[in-house]
Amino acid sequence: MASNTNGLAADSTLQAICYKRGSLQLLDQRKLPLETIYIEIRDSTDGWNAIRDMVVRGAPAIAIAGVLSLAVEVFNSGAFNGSVADAASFLQNKLEYLVSSRPTAVNLSDAATKLKEVILKAAATSSEARSVFQAFIEATEIMLEDDVATNRAIGSYGASFVQQHSEKPKLSVLTHCNAGSLATAGYGTALGVIRALHSEGVLEWAYCTETRPFNQGSRLTAFELVHEKIPATLIADSAVAALMKAGRVDAVVVGADRVASNGDTANKIGTYSVALCAKFHSVPFYVAAPLTSIDLSLSSGREIVIEERSPKELLNARGGLGEKVAASGISVWNPAFDMTPANLISGIITEKGVITKTGADTFDIKAFVQKTGDQA
Ligand code: MRU
Repeated sequence: MASNTNGLAADSTLQAICYKRGSLQLLDQRKLPLETIYIEIRDSTDGWNAIRDMVVRGAPAIAIAGVLSLAVEVFNSGAFNGSVADAASFLQNKLEYLVSSRPTAVNLSDAATKLKEVILKAAATSSEARSVFQAFIEATEIMLEDDVATNRAIGSYGASFVQQHSEKPKLSVLTHCNAGSLATAGYGTALGVIRALHSEGVLEWAYCTETRPFNQGSRLTAFELVHEKIPATLIADSAVAALMKAGRVDAVVVGADRVASNGDTANKIGTYSVALCAKFHSVPFYVAAPLTSIDLSLSSGREIVIEERSPKELLNARGGLGEKVAASGISVWNPAFDMTPANLISGIITEKGVITKTGADTFDIKAFVQKTGDQA
């Protein structure tokens, strides 16, 4: 079921995920910016399809929408004819299924791992299947609430760090893809940094790329920037080098789908090209991401699985949603992400602070996570 609402949260920010216990609606991001339509998500199958089909996208939003789809499923499921152990394995299997929707972003898999611990703990202390479901639902709701606070912290740390590392009183910042309210539960990560700079009065200008082929930049980031009344300009992906050569970019801030323990970062296809241009033009290149985007099990980005999507995204207009535009018979390679090596990254902005380099080429993210975890 689809419904029309104005797409805004109470604080008038754009809202990709509308949740009340037992009810989940996702803003259909394929329709933006032309239409604001929410789709009702009744269960984890709807959740899986919404993630796979890009109704909801962006690493943190994928994680939260995915686990909430299972929360509404179990809330509305009525009587469960099974034991506590059956309830636990039902939830664990469904989480595995959800994680299989898209391979590159780690946040959903991270959420699933944490929720499995909650499930096991609840199963060990409960006598009823319902209590296991209840513990699961409550834990997913905390994840939803925490995400906005996390993003605000990223915005605040990022804005201070970027300013401290620039000699200019006002900065022009470029971003790629969409790492804003629409890619999260609210506020955004990379776009959160831009929003924080703007609200502190130190943003000269924001630039967003189109982000071919799915156009997350022209459809979603441009939409958010206009909505927030942030002074901004849209450029073609291929204009990044020229913009930097003209001296119009003081910093780049992008999001992340998965960061390996040495700092290598998978993000939207084209991020690597932007980082190479930034290196050449001595423009600092920052990754803004929550700690849930970090995958300490991977020693480098070479181990990150890069999703390949349908040729249709290139062959047809509007990232595959419109009419055919490419020559019939041409073959297509359509990786959805690329990997930016750590040596091109100036800093990784998280909700616990900014991770800086330990050597010329790598970050010691494990040590940072350990240190900030110990302080918490
Ligand atoms: O394919 P998408 O639209 O899910 O890709 C999104 C990105 O690459 C974002 O930059 C990333 O997920 C960070 S979102 C805060």
